Amino acid sequence: MAESMKGLQRSHRCTEVTSANIGEVVTVMGWVQKSRNKGGIIFVDLRDRSGILQVIFEGSDIGEAGFLKAEKLRSEFVIAVVGKIEARSGAANENLATGSIELRATELRILSEAETPPFPIEEESKTKEDLRLKYRYLDLRRPDLQRNLIMRSKVATLTRQFLSEEGFLEIETPMLTKSTPEGARDYLVPSRVHPGSFYALPQSPQIFKQLLMCSGYDRYFQIVKCFRDEDLRADRQPEFTQIDMELSFVDVDDVIGVNERLLKKLFKESIGIEVPLPIQRMTYAEAMDRFGSDKPDIRFGLELKNVSEVVKHCGFSVFTGALEKGGSVRGINAEGQAEMPRKKIDALVEFAKGFGAKGLAYLAVNGDGTYKSSFSKFMTEEELAALVAAMSGKPGDLLLFAADEDDVVFDVLGNLRLEIARNLELLKKDEYKFLWVTEFPLLEYSKEEGRYTAKHHPFTMPMEEDLDLLDTQPDKVRAKAYDIVLNGTEIGGGSVRIFQNHVQEKMFEVLGFTKEDAYDRFGFLLNAFKYGVPPHAGLAYGLDRLVMLMAKEDSIRDVIAFPKVKDASCLMTEAPNTVEQKQLDELGIGVVSQD
Ligand code: AMO
Ligand code: AMP
Repeated sequence: MAESMKGLQRSHRCTEVTSANIGEVVTVMGWVQKSRNKGGIIFVDLRDRSGILQVIFEGSDIGEAGFLKAEKLRSEFVIAVVGKIEARSGAANENLATGSIELRATELRILSEAETPPFPIEEESKTKEDLRLKYRYLDLRRPDLQRNLIMRSKVATLTRQFLSEEGFLEIETPMLTKSTPEGARDYLVPSRVHPGSFYALPQSPQIFKQLLMCSGYDRYFQIVKCFRDEDLRADRQPEFTQIDMELSFVDVDDVIGVNERLLKKLFKESIGIEVPLPIQRMTYAEAMDRFGSDKPDIRFGLELKNVSEVVKHCGFSVFTGALEKGGSVRGINAEGQAEMPRKKIDALVEFAKGFGAKGLAYLAVNGDGTYKSSFSKFMTEEELAALVAAMSGKPGDLLLFAADEDDVVFDVLGNLRLEIARNLELLKKDEYKFLWVTEFPLLEYSKEEGRYTAKHHPFTMPMEEDLDLLDTQPDKVRAKAYDIVLNGTEIGGGSVRIFQNHVQEKMFEVLGFTKEDAYDRFGFLLNAFKYGVPPHAGLAYGLDRLVMLMAKEDSIRDVIAFPKVKDASCLMTEAPNTVEQKQLDELGIGVVSQD
């Protein structure tokens, strides 16, 4: 039966007591991690969010009735214990913060009994994630998840502190709003008062923060939920949190400056990592050319080399064919990997095909300078020697080549580079390599839609020197857009915004919107610009991704209290779910059967 805690008040969390408290009477409350009855003496590991404290129950201290009660304790019972802190009688446990002390109980109350949990509450759980997510409230008791959420809270607090000190105002923006174009599908919310009309949940506060700049709030931030209906991956959730900011009267360097200082503080004060400033910058063009990715992981080399010129006239038709079609031939030198077994090379070829490669040509430079290769028979000795030299190949190296359209070559080799690094265990989670990627293309051509779409969003400013190309070669126009990349993950992105109406209208025109479309969707922004708009720029981080990397986790689910799974459902609440007919009727919604 559950007892009350009347008359008791918690004096310490479990690990807030130290050897300095020896001799003091304390009151602690928490969950039984484990209980061992050694006959006449019972040892209980008591757990709360701070950690574990060993409690000792003996009849001589707690009385016969108290001892009988202690014998009933099982894992996950919630108890209150009053007692005296003593030096540990047995050997000290160096794995515990409280390993050199113990609590000798003089009073025990069982506040809540517990059924046996469906899985053990323990560090580094081996239990399948689906079961843990169904019982997320139990999973969240595990020390690793508790540490992650404590770190997340700390990062949010430090962010608020830093940005407030830098003169940013925290301002909330609506959740029930109109579509914001960030490239994903919207989550829609039906309106009861306006049957047939829908709000969209924000994909980001983008338009509102720009309006706040028009209203003169000159430095805004918000730690805010955003909603995007897109395919989920380890670093994507349908609802996620941004650290979102916008600044007036600034350009790229100002935004980068403030954010470098923010990152330095966050990493130093939450995980003790020194971020050397300034953070390296690289243009999008260079990132693609050297790493085949707009979010390169620069913890390791394995850079791409363009060998198109070298193989232009060679005898291997796979190479020359791709070049004739306007593509390129690029390679990676996996240094020292010439001995890679055929099976592993074949696995890399299959991996490359998963990214659209038609094949992957390889050449191993043997110790004696001869080659083992899938294509050497098509090339002369001189052609091979020139290719190996272009790749800086030495005896012992394995060279891998892709020949195709640029997009495919970059995607294949960019991913292959990561796969090789994973296989060779080159990715160290305690190494943090930051990179700004700048000068993104403003637009990308969508074959699906048969028009250009904004690479970032339609409010991003083109680089002044490229403005003239908007009419003639839109795909060549670079944007004043930047991403902040950490260890190959895009943790944030932003841009300088268009603040002149004629440029914004031009942008909508290039994107294929008529003036009516543009005013229909974003009229309030275009109108706001007519009444005095400051030059402005901003950036947003994915807080979940940032904390995931700080906590050295592989998935953002591990830093979100109640995450969703791949099909965007919540295994605990079973959302999304059907609703009563009455609710649908009120909303004027009829559901088309999915059977
Ligand atoms: P962007 O779309 O790049 O920019 O988003 C900013 C950052 O948010 C994170 N992020 C996500 N995290 C988890 N799950 C998702 N589904 C998800 N989608 C994005 C990423 C990303 O870098 N309004 C602009 C910012 C600006 O221009 O100021 C924006 O939203 O870490
Ligand atoms: P094939 O002549 O098709 O047997 O190809 C010879 C070698 O070239 C094999 O190792 C293929 O995997 C490789 N290969 C085929 N297509 C490509 C391509 N587009 N890029 C790079 N290598 C390729």
